[in-house]
Amino acid sequence: MKTSSVLQAIRTWVINQIYRFYEKRLSNTIKNGEVPRHVGLILDGNRRWAKELGLDPTLGHQYGFEKLKEVLQWCWEIGIGTVTVYALSTENLKRPKGEVDALIALAEKAFNDVIESKEIHERGVRIRALGRLHLLKESLREAVRKAEESTKSYSDRRLNIAIAYGGRAEILDAARKIISDVINGDLEVGDINEETFAKYLYTAEDPDPDLIIRTSGEERLSGFLLWQSAYSEFYFMDVYWPELRKIDLLRAIRTYQRRQRRFGT
Ligand code: FPP
Ligand code: MG
Repeated sequence: MKTSSVLQAIRTWVINQIYRFYEKRLSNTIKNGEVPRHVGLILDGNRRWAKELGLDPTLGHQYGFEKLKEVLQWCWEIGIGTVTVYALSTENLKRPKGEVDALIALAEKAFNDVIESKEIHERGVRIRALGRLHLLKESLREAVRKAEESTKSYSDRRLNIAIAYGGRAEILDAARKIISDVINGDLEVGDINEETFAKYLYTAEDPDPDLIIRTSGEERLSGFLLWQSAYSEFYFMDVYWPELRKIDLLRAIRTYQRRQRRFGT
């Protein structure tokens, strides 16, 4: 073995040890604070990550999907009860056909995997898809139906996957249902308040997100949970989604715990 490879191996070992030590320290630190009940994740940077490595953008999404499975494990270990993932916006559906097809195929695989996943059933994770599902092809809708059906009795944890989702579209859909209920005589105009309105959103049964995390250096919501995020804490990080490390997530939680939430009071 050449001296340079030995030095490289030692360097990698030392970095891994430091990383593991730091991860453990962060894990211990956040155990003393309040864990967010609901975390929203905006997965961003898949294509830029792939481009920097000279890979096809769809490979970026595949790695992004693998990363999502890993990140969900971390969230569950930390004790986060509800996770909402922004997987596909209505705008994403306007991307080149090849990319949209690849994303839809990944989403279908994700929902089909849920039905077989030992982890999901053992942890009692209730899966729900949020969005204008009628815009999606039948095989994906069928996978969504089966995943929701096979987990509907679970209440330990909740995983919401936003697909064909837009926050304005969600608010409009709620307004339409409200108007139709008023016309049908099932709802009084005087009874429409923030609480009743929230019951008409896709997230009717979820608490509002305490923390919303976006990767890749972009600092905007892009329509994610517009109504629900009124008092959410935001955490933006520069890493691209496929390269997110556990320490990045733990640092986001630590920052959340250090913030003072006053809800406008
Ligand atoms: C953002 O990166 C990512 C997406 C638009 C798609 C995210 C989807 C997955 C990880 C797979 C699907 C998974 C499920 C569970 C349905 P980007 O494409 O905006 O990358 P860029 O910002 O670098 O251009
Ligand atoms: Mg992007």
